[in-house]
Amino acid sequence: MRQIVVKLCTRIILIAVVVGAGWVHVVLAQSTADEHLPEGLGIAQFTPSDELIYPSDTDRWVVVGASIGGDYSETEFDPSNPGPISVVQLELNAYTYLLENGRYADGTMFLLSFYQTQEKPEPGLNGFVQGDLMALEMHVIDRVKYQDNRGFYMFAADERGPSAMLPAGNECVQCHAEHGVFDSTFTQFYPTIRHIVTQGPE
Ligand code: HEC
Repeated sequence: MRQIVVKLCTRIILIAVVVGAGWVHVVLAQSTADEHLPEGLGIAQFTPSDELIYPSDTDRWVVVGASIGGDYSETEFDPSNPGPISVVQLELNAYTYLLENGRYADGTMFLLSFYQTQEKPEPGLNGFVQGDLMALEMHVIDRVKYQDNRGFYMFAADERGPSAMLPAGNECVQCHAEHGVFDSTFTQFYPTIRHIVTQGPE
């Protein structure tokens, strides 16, 4: 009798383990699926009519890259008149998430600021510096919110009121999807994060 009870108990435990293993499997499968949709950062704020509100703390965002003459114009680059200097910044929480996970969280915000290129005014000081701010562009990545997985927005330098998303399939999306090597961003040009493209998260 005792033996039968022990056997029965063992069987129940075995069944429990098998069921348990199945459950663990389901839970694991679930969390893998969830990884593709990380919880939104919730930093980007929108008006009731879904316009992006210009964040107040962009001065604290991480500068990930800068370039000169990248104004999307078709004319050939002229070193004596190089076009604007553009500076790319990544919102702090998005930056941390990217380093830890090797991909962008939903709600990731990139800012591109265009500055006039100013020649250093004094003799003996060579090169160019950033002049006045000309325009601002924002790239928000969110697989849940956007049809294209991303939204592009433009702000004037002096008028930073809420901005409506450029319509889906616009030329911003097209160029970024074609030439931006990492999730339609130009990480290949950003020295502080480009290693993630080749080496994965830190
Ligand atoms: C012809 C290609 C092209 C088009 C069109 C384009 N971009 Fe970009 N974009 C770039 C390049 C190249 C960079 C890398 C930074 C640089 O070189 O200035 C960039 C970088 C950016 C970044 C920094 C984050 C990132 O995604 O790498 C933002 C923000 C951005 N662009 C917004 C816009 C917006 C808004 C539009 C549409 C109004 C737009 N871009 C259209 C080529 C393009």
